[in-house]
Amino acid sequence: LANMTSEDMCLHYQGLLLPKETHSLQSLEFAQAFKFTDDDVIAAVYPKSGTIWMQEILPLLLNGGDLTPIHTIPNWDRVPWLEEKRLACVVDKLPTPRAMVTHFPFRLMPPSFHTSKAKVIYVMRNPKDNLVSSYYFHQMAKFLEDPGTFDEFIDKFLDGKVLFGKWTDHVKSWKNAELGDRILFITYEEMCQDLPAALRQMSDFLGRNLSEDTIQKIAQHCTFKTMKTNRMSNFSLVPKQYMDSEKSPFLRKGVPGDCKNHFSSEQLARFTSAIRKDLQSESFTLPYNL
Ligand code: A3P
Repeated sequence: LANMTSEDMCLHYQGLLLPKETHSLQSLEFAQAFKFTDDDVIAAVYPKSGTIWMQEILPLLLNGGDLTPIHTIPNWDRVPWLEEKRLACVVDKLPTPRAMVTHFPFRLMPPSFHTSKAKVIYVMRNPKDNLVSSYYFHQMAKFLEDPGTFDEFIDKFLDGKVLFGKWTDHVKSWKNAELGDRILFITYEEMCQDLPAALRQMSDFLGRNLSEDTIQKIAQHCTFKTMKTNRMSNFSLVPKQYMDSEKSPFLRKGVPGDCKNHFSSEQLARFTSAIRKDLQSESFTLPYNL
């Protein structure tokens, strides 16, 4: 995979770059033809904002805290990506209610999603930290082009020349989706600050009615530290030629604010002004002081 460019490694789909390793035209067609049912639950997450975290959380919320799936099924088969190749292999084995994740912007959700009552949890992360996480991910994921310098990567991120396009387009699409009570917005930072509170919010939204003991138990099993040692969730099952955790582990730091260790003041000014400009005519405000 060395020396390959993003043109070799990614396919273009509806204006987005997607890695060929995990996506194909067939998998994208499969996603478009996918039949959502009313009790499906999907977490919509821009890459590096907590997708794998939701792959740990959702089964536990939906099954009342039974640890079996998170200890026996790799995250990508346990809560599959709507758009990835693995979905077709596991879809018939998913317990109900089914849980999935997606990196799709809202405009790419399939027709059956719109006519169903399936629920969505949208997880947003501070874009500065999102960029830092993505920068390290591009170094460790051998099926992605090397990110170049941090400065170069800032431009790529702002231009949307990264996985699943621009961060601002993704956020805008879901914020403006008008899904009423079918969507819950939550932030990565809220989850870091008080995971039990975030779990209670999600559990209420999903109509689960879990006891405080169960919420606490789920929280314990979804901490960064616990997930880092869970072989079914830390990507250690993936061969080093695809993901090199010696370069950077997938579960890397797991905290808000790492941007402070990476951005210069000039880079920060460039970054925030571009994000603000992209969002200037939006009616929603970000839960961040950029
Ligand atoms: P960092 O690179 O900042 O550590 P995704 O799953 O969307 O690719 O997101 C990965 C990011 O979420 C990584 O961020 C990872 O460490 C973080 N993450 C995953 N599980 C977490 C947890 N339980 N607590 C805090 N952060 C978590």
